[in-house]
Amino acid sequence: MEFFNKLIIPSSGANLELLKYLLSLALIIFSIYSGVLLTSLILSFIYKITASRKNNNIYFMFSNDYIGIITPNKTMALGLGVAPLFSIILIYIQILNKVNNDIILFFTISFCIFFAALVLIYLYKYTLKPVQGQSNENRTNSINTITGIAGIIFLLFSLRLFYGLVNLASDSNNWSFAGGFYDIVFTTQAVIKFIQFITISCSISATAFIVKYFYWDKFEDNVTQDYADYAKKINSWLALGFAFIQPFILAINIYSTPDNLMNTNSFMFGMLSLVSLLIFMHLSYAGVRYNKYQAISFSFYLILLAFIFIILKDQSALSLSSRQQILTLADKYNQLEIALLEKEGKKAPQINGEEIYKTKCTACHKFDQKFVGPPHKEVLLKYLNNKEGMVKFILNPVKVNPEYSEMPNQGLKPKEAEAVVEYMYKEYGNKLK
Ligand code: HEC
Repeated sequence: MEFFNKLIIPSSGANLELLKYLLSLALIIFSIYSGVLLTSLILSFIYKITASRKNNNIYFMFSNDYIGIITPNKTMALGLGVAPLFSIILIYIQILNKVNNDIILFFTISFCIFFAALVLIYLYKYTLKPVQGQSNENRTNSINTITGIAGIIFLLFSLRLFYGLVNLASDSNNWSFAGGFYDIVFTTQAVIKFIQFITISCSISATAFIVKYFYWDKFEDNVTQDYADYAKKINSWLALGFAFIQPFILAINIYSTPDNLMNTNSFMFGMLSLVSLLIFMHLSYAGVRYNKYQAISFSFYLILLAFIFIILKDQSALSLSSRQQILTLADKYNQLEIALLEKEGKKAPQINGEEIYKTKCTACHKFDQKFVGPPHKEVLLKYLNNKEGMVKFILNPVKVNPEYSEMPNQGLKPKEAEAVVEYMYKEYGNKLK
């Protein structure tokens, strides 16, 4: 596992915060890409089988168009699949810095399987041919069937593992995890989130089908009116059906999220997702009901937004729970920096507890009166024999007393918090009685 540790770059707190934003961005790109890839592959495969059963090339056209949604060329797979996935894993290596290399190892495995799945999917795409019944064609057809099935299995497996890991990593309580595959993949949260991922991706793929072929590529001229009507109708219903169950899945998702991972942000993102979904359903329904599909090109962005909000909702859990880890890492970085400065004979900047206290804490606290926060006289008595407890609280405030609102995080580094606590006891310690 030494290998993974070599990939760690010491980072300041600001860099680590930036990494978290990059992580969300990469996750958004990868989730949309992988979701559409998986669902359009499955749909394409179903239509391919139907085409050979019924010997009807309309179904074959469908099959071909589905897989074409997300695989127009190979660059797309590298740019939207491999590159974001690689970045995501690198970022997790930084954030989970030496906490748990097993998680990183599993991430790497999911990456390799994903790569293999991509190869299979492109093979599937290139061997997809209309059924004609010549023996030569038949061989291509069975290669096509095999790569299709294997592609689906590999992709499902790698994504299942990957999203299980993302879910695991979003709660720092799990970081000490020493379990195996089962504990990553089969927790309630992981299962619900994966169902959510697949179903909303189905909606996106079906909408993308209509938007891509009828509004962007305008291939209406190349196909019969029958095909166009059928394609629009069936895809709208698919999109609508899978969108319809989203609010329920979202509710279960929120309900089953542990309390320590819910905050105002995650709740807000959940709500935004719901609103986007409702408008999306409204527009899609109008589409099928009145045979007017123009609105679809707009509603496509709504379903994408709904998905993005769900990802952001889940990522705010990571933000919340990785705070402590980020502080520790940032502190390590500061120590490195100080050591470096000292080596060069320069003086490291001094941390001044008094200054921090006067600029940051007096806005809400007085010594012996209630203010926005409790009087520090009470607080100092409470933590008299537990100063580390107070440092911990300041670094990561939690709700304590119902009489007050929650204390906002003051963004102090561990050393600064220690200095403030030391200052408070030095300054007020003898006035406590
Ligand atoms: C924006 C207002 C605000 C600022 C600024 C603020 N606090 Fe607080 N603080 C509060 C509130 C409100 C509470 C009560 C929280 C509760 O009971 O949930 C509190 C509670 C506390 C407690 C008591 C925790 C407990 O377990 O009872 C400590 C210790 C504390 N603050 C220290 C500090 C220090 C040190 C600073 C400066 C770095 C600071 N606070 C800055 C609002 C603030």
